[in-house]
Amino acid sequence: SAPVITIDGPSGAGKGTITQLVAKKLGWTLLDSGALYRLTALAAETAGVALEDEQRLSELALSLDVEFVPGDYGEPVNVLLNGNDVTRDIRTETCGNNASKVAPLPSVRAALLQRQRDFQQFPGLVADGRDMGTVVFPDAAIKVFMTASAEERAERRYRQLKDKGEDVKIATLLSEIRERDARDTGRATAPLKPADDAVMLDTTGLGIEEVLAQVLKLVEE
Ligand code: CDP
Repeated sequence: SAPVITIDGPSGAGKGTITQLVAKKLGWTLLDSGALYRLTALAAETAGVALEDEQRLSELALSLDVEFVPGDYGEPVNVLLNGNDVTRDIRTETCGNNASKVAPLPSVRAALLQRQRDFQQFPGLVADGRDMGTVVFPDAAIKVFMTASAEERAERRYRQLKDKGEDVKIATLLSEIRERDARDTGRATAPLKPADDAVMLDTTGLGIEEVLAQVLKLVEE
C-alpha cells in the first residue's frame, strides 16, 4: 500500500502549513482530517442538526460530499461541500469550536474513518490531525507529533488573525487554546496523544522552513 506520513498534534501547532508544504514537496496527496470534522459541524448548522444529535450527525458525516483542491503557497486547501466553496466558512473560530464538539462522538468518528483511509493513494499521503498515527493510519511509516507551547500557539494565531485585520486579544486566544487542548486530550474517544512510535517535534521558537526541513529529514532517513 502507499506510504503514509502522519502529523498529529494540538490546535495551532502549525500542522496544516507543514502538511501542505510536505505534500507539495513530495507530490503526495494531503488529508486535512480536521476539515472533515469542521465540515460535519458546518453541514449540521446548515441542516439545522443539533451538535448533540449523534445519530443525525453521523449520517451527515457519512454522506458529506467533499472535494479538496490544493491552494497556493501558504494558503489553506480549498474545500468544496456539495460543490460550494466553504474554504473560509470552515476556518472560523465558531466552526473550529463546533468541530471540537462533534469530534468526541464515537459514531461521527466511525463514520469518518473509512473516508479518511480512502485518501491513502500512490505515490503517498501526508495526513494531518489528532489521531492519524494512533487510530486512522496505525501502520504509517513516519509519524510526527508536532507541538509548541500554548503561549507560542496563541501568538501565532494572534499574528494570523491580525494579518486578516481581525481585532482579538492574545489572552482570549490563549484561554481558547487551553480549552481546546483540554477537550482534545480529555475526551474518551481518540484522545490527543502521541503514537508510541511517533517522533516528537517541538516547534516552539522554530520557523516554518526549519520545521519543514526536520520533517523532510525524517522522510530521507
Ligand atoms: O487546529 P485547529 O484545532 O484549529 O483545527 P483542526 O485541526 O481543523 O481541528 C478541528 C477540531 O476537530 C479539533 O479541535 C479536534 O477536536 C477535531 N479533530 C479530531 O478530533 N480529529 C482529527 N483527526 C482532526 C481534528
